[in-house]
Amino acid sequence: MAVEEFMDYVDKHQNDFVERLRKAVAIPSVSGDPNHRPDVFRMGEFLVNELKALGASVETRDLGKQDFHGTPLDLPPVVLATVGNDPAKKTILVYGHYDVQPALKEDGWTTDPFVLVEDDKQRLIGRGSSDDKGPVLGWINVVEAHKNLGLELPVNIKFCLEGMEESGSEGLDDLIYQEADKYFKDVDAVTISDNYWLGTTKPCLTYGLRGVSYFHLTVKGPAADLHSGVFGGTIHEPMSDLFAVMSKLVQPDGKILVPGVYDQVRAVTDEEEATYATLDFSLDDLHAAVGNKTNIHPDVKSVLQHRWRYPSLSLHGIEGAFYNPGDKTVIPAKVIGKFSIRSVPDMDPKKLTELVKNYVNDEFNKLGSKNTMVIECSHDGNHWLASPNHPNYVAAAKATETVYKVKPDLTREGGSIPVTLSFQDALKKNVLLLPMGRGDDGAHSINEKLDRSNYIQGTKLLGVYLHEVSKVDL
Ligand code: BES
Ligand code: ZN
Repeated sequence: MAVEEFMDYVDKHQNDFVERLRKAVAIPSVSGDPNHRPDVFRMGEFLVNELKALGASVETRDLGKQDFHGTPLDLPPVVLATVGNDPAKKTILVYGHYDVQPALKEDGWTTDPFVLVEDDKQRLIGRGSSDDKGPVLGWINVVEAHKNLGLELPVNIKFCLEGMEESGSEGLDDLIYQEADKYFKDVDAVTISDNYWLGTTKPCLTYGLRGVSYFHLTVKGPAADLHSGVFGGTIHEPMSDLFAVMSKLVQPDGKILVPGVYDQVRAVTDEEEATYATLDFSLDDLHAAVGNKTNIHPDVKSVLQHRWRYPSLSLHGIEGAFYNPGDKTVIPAKVIGKFSIRSVPDMDPKKLTELVKNYVNDEFNKLGSKNTMVIECSHDGNHWLASPNHPNYVAAAKATETVYKVKPDLTREGGSIPVTLSFQDALKKNVLLLPMGRGDDGAHSINEKLDRSNYIQGTKLLGVYLHEVSKVDL
């Protein structure tokens, strides 16, 4: 009865919920851009105010400063909010992030990325709509619905909302370990809504993420940028060295060339092989999400295996290189190549870093260049794998059936959420990923969107899940 009343409320108040998302998207809380740091703080305040207005007891935790290429920058606060503290009820920890990826109209957005626009397909377009403002507000909508209906929440909720997820969650790990026996003491299970359905029609529960290790490869030589007409052919050029080394990292078919990387990858079992057959995912879904048919692997199973359970190495960019339109005959004096490796069970990030450093050093030495090269790992986050048979997942599956009338797929993800493993390890509790958006939402890309139906049904899902999880043995 309570659940029906709640779902009905969500339907009737959907426009209010969309307005809440509109306000959140309007705050360009880009954590990776120092110019937007005040906006990240504003977004934190927005959430504090929303939560306080609903009666939550809210505190913010200062994480100190970040070293942004030598410049100290204030880290945005972690918002810790408690709704209910009835010892007779279970306590569910909800994690989400209020920062977003950068977005510029010039990148190819059809609308202003920080103005929420609903198109004729009822898609809510705007940066952060799916990653991760929509889901964070989904939980807040649930609290509001219960409050306004005079319905008791079936569990206590503890929020942990951070503003640095897109930039590696700096400082949060320490806080989680420090607060394990304090703020997080009574937590019975953890739920995170910060990923996506596999395709566009069927909901899923997610029990695995890849880790990510990010590397900076710096090559420098001349004291300043030089004229290529005067010095070209007479000195070792940093960019040529960098290209030579970076071209040895990964093949065009995706194979990682760093020796030893695949030795640590867990073997596929027959049991695992069988899990790919029934998933709601096709090559068409992949093509639609990519916007082209440039897939390396020919079938769904190998695509998903290479997304979920094999490592990948991506080249991201070169700092210091000439990248403007037009011609410029410069020899850059110092260039920094950026690449990352997504890691999987049973790879060890420390061992991975050692393999990468040794290999890159060897490859650079082979060049016989007089330039200097330094390879650094700027952050590493381990992979995460949970048991999808845990009662927390059973509750989420039941909630999915109530809202969507279908059993969810069980999926893993290729992306990373650094703190997922920290919660599992520090609190020794089950962690569930319960996504709200679809596989084609375009997180981190242009025209990011969240379908109105995913936002509204997703809000219902989060609420019904809380009712279901209150009934299982955790
Ligand atoms: N929401 C994503 C995580 C994600 C990505 C889940 C793809 C499922 C599929 C999150 O906001 C994110 O992008 N994380 C970063 C973490 C990194 C900066 C340490 C990522 O995966 O690149
Ligand atoms: Zn996210």
